[in-house]
Amino acid sequence: MSKKVLLIAGDGIGPEISVEAKRVLDIINQQFDLGIEYDEALLGGAAIDATGVPLPDETLAKAKACDAILFGAIGGPKWDNIDRDIRPEKGLLGLRSGLELFGNLRPAILYPQLADASSLKPEVVSGLDILIVRELTGGIYFGEPRGIRTLENGEREGYNTYKYNETEIRRIAKVAFEAAKKRGGKLCSVDKANVLEATVLWREIVQDMAKDYPEVELSHMYVDNAAMQLVRAPKQFDVIVTGNLFGDILSDAAAMLTGSIGMLPSASLDKNGRGMYEPCHGSAPDIAGQGKANPLAMVLSAAMMLRYSLNATAAADAIEVAVGKVLDQGYRTPDIHTEGMKLVSTSEMGDALVAALTE
Ligand code: NAD
Ligand code: IPM
Ligand code: MN
Repeated sequence: MSKKVLLIAGDGIGPEISVEAKRVLDIINQQFDLGIEYDEALLGGAAIDATGVPLPDETLAKAKACDAILFGAIGGPKWDNIDRDIRPEKGLLGLRSGLELFGNLRPAILYPQLADASSLKPEVVSGLDILIVRELTGGIYFGEPRGIRTLENGEREGYNTYKYNETEIRRIAKVAFEAAKKRGGKLCSVDKANVLEATVLWREIVQDMAKDYPEVELSHMYVDNAAMQLVRAPKQFDVIVTGNLFGDILSDAAAMLTGSIGMLPSASLDKNGRGMYEPCHGSAPDIAGQGKANPLAMVLSAAMMLRYSLNATAAADAIEVAVGKVLDQGYRTPDIHTEGMKLVSTSEMGDALVAALTE
């Protein structure tokens, strides 16, 4: 049976890393007879340039019609000063929201070969395997009212609204409890319940749901402490569940534990497990077009897509094994390069993956 994957390359390094992920998928598609067919769509800056808006109707329609979406990254200085309602980021947020992709899984796993590439001591990060479950369609990212208004004294004021309702909290907490049950049995809910009412409710609901998961050991932590603990002793965590903004920030910090943000994949899932798969990093305008981008976060996102949306576990395993193999062979893009290793470009890393999968 054929499966339709929507490829959205995006901006900056997005197209460069997408090419390598597609090369890998093409091989896997053949080897495992997955019947994947591709479609392509525009999002972000590329869509603004072509159509005037960051999320064209056609893209949303294609996204709704496919089995899974594989996405690179959007954004860049070219579009930073346009009307904020049509910025590239709005396109991504609109797609997440339009598809109700509320469950964002961001696994931070240290490949043992990269223990030296992390900015933390090898003993602090070796064996690291954390899953950050980030709420993706609510919280301060989407809360109304929001905007920039002019006050009576003529001064301007920017404002946003941080809110979560019970349904939103329950459904993301369920994803996290279920994940913790299948993994190490530990869940840490991260909030700011000492200050923010929205997270007082968050904590109460998560606490209440713990009754249904006696096998999961639940703890709560304030987000400031969590940021500190992530770099002090990250291996204390198994699964972390948190809101949209805190999850955005903590996952970038967690990325560095794995050696580079270029290593962190993600899955964004709806209630039926349909999803979009993308690296956690952005469009990296500072290195775009230079062959310096690490394609592994995107390649590993493709593996997550096979695992979660296309029911192709063995194919996902094969990609992850190939990533391990190229790292064993010493191939390193600049972001993960350490002394004695082979410095390679984005496409050379792709070549190494192709070789690992076919030899
Ligand atoms: P960024 O993640 O793009 O880059 C941060 C730093 O990490 C840069 O130094 C960059 O070179 C490096 N980096 C990122 N990905 C890398 C990779 N694969 N290999 C090697 N190095 C990598 O974050 P930023 O600079 O804050 O944002 C740049 C643009 O990307 C902005 O427009 C932002 O809105 C957008 N953004 C998009 C997404 C997304 O599409 N999901 C995520 C984050 C940021
Ligand atoms: C991410 C990004 C996005 C976010 C931006 C580009 C809207 O930082 O995917 O982590 O904040 O969610
Ligand atoms: Mn982010």
